[in-house]
Amino acid sequence: MRDLYAEAAARWVAAGRTSHYAIVPATDPALVDAWFRLGFGHQHVHAIREPAVSSDEIEAPPGLLVRPPRRDDLETLARIDVALPEHQALAPVFSPLPVPSVAEMRDELEADFDDPRFTTFVVERDGEVIGATVGCAIEVSSMHKSLALPRGAGFLGFAAVLPEHRGSGAGRVLGETVLAWARDAGYPAVVTDWRMTNVLAFARVAGARVPADVLPPPSGNRLTAGA
Ligand SMILES: CC(C)(COP(=O)(O)OP(=O)(O)OC[C@H]1O[C@@H](n2cnc3c(N)ncnc32)[C@H](O)[C@@H]1OP(=O)(O)O)[C@@H](O)C(=O)NCCC(=O)NCCS
Repeated sequence: MRDLYAEAAARWVAAGRTSHYAIVPATDPALVDAWFRLGFGHQHVHAIREPAVSSDEIEAPPGLLVRPPRRDDLETLARIDVALPEHQALAPVFSPLPVPSVAEMRDELEADFDDPRFTTFVVERDGEVIGATVGCAIEVSSMHKSLALPRGAGFLGFAAVLPEHRGSGAGRVLGETVLAWARDAGYPAVVTDWRMTNVLAFARVAGARVPADVLPPPSGNRLTAGA
């Protein structure tokens, strides 16, 4: 791996391309280790699991209700969308990506509101929208390509809860809703991804009961990305 990387990277660096990313199967610890020994770190996790099964029931904590969005939710949905990059900009993720404004996000959401490729759910707490999630086909995601594209899978593409409402079970119920949506839509598997440094909260929302980077899911492969 070292020789292969040296050969490829010499040309990339000579061309001024100095940020390198490798997506590596987490099921091959020796290979993962080889990339760590080349100086790569663990930035991102790709995960796949089975959807909900027919007997799975979603038990929302008292006061929480999941439903499809309405147009009059757009302002709150925009705040929820911005809450994700805001969170990623903080420690310990420190994402350098720009945080869009609520107005920009609202325009984008309005344009996409009727797009049939995306299925959005919002969660209300005592009648107030506090979080949202989006499911779609994995092929819609620009991040999952080539060997990291399990064709035909569903994709949990987004989940966020407003900061003041986190930790009350809304994220879990959103995750379970997407797993049930995937089951009902006939997807054989559900994919998601998250920043490694954001693993604790999101791995649990995605349905994993274990640290997702080191243990396999109940079935299927798990991919890990180093950067
Ligand atoms: C991730 C997020 C959606 C979770 O929503 P939430 O309403 O806070 O989550 P819940 O209260 O349902 O908690 C879900 C599980 O994670 C655990 N959890 C939540 N936040 C946690 C934290 N900071 N550390 C450890 N565990 C945490 C809860 O204990 C719960 O586990 P359990 O069901 O086994 O008891 C929310 O924290 C969020 O919006 N984060 C910022 C945006 C984000 O990171 N989105 C995912 C991007 S990849």
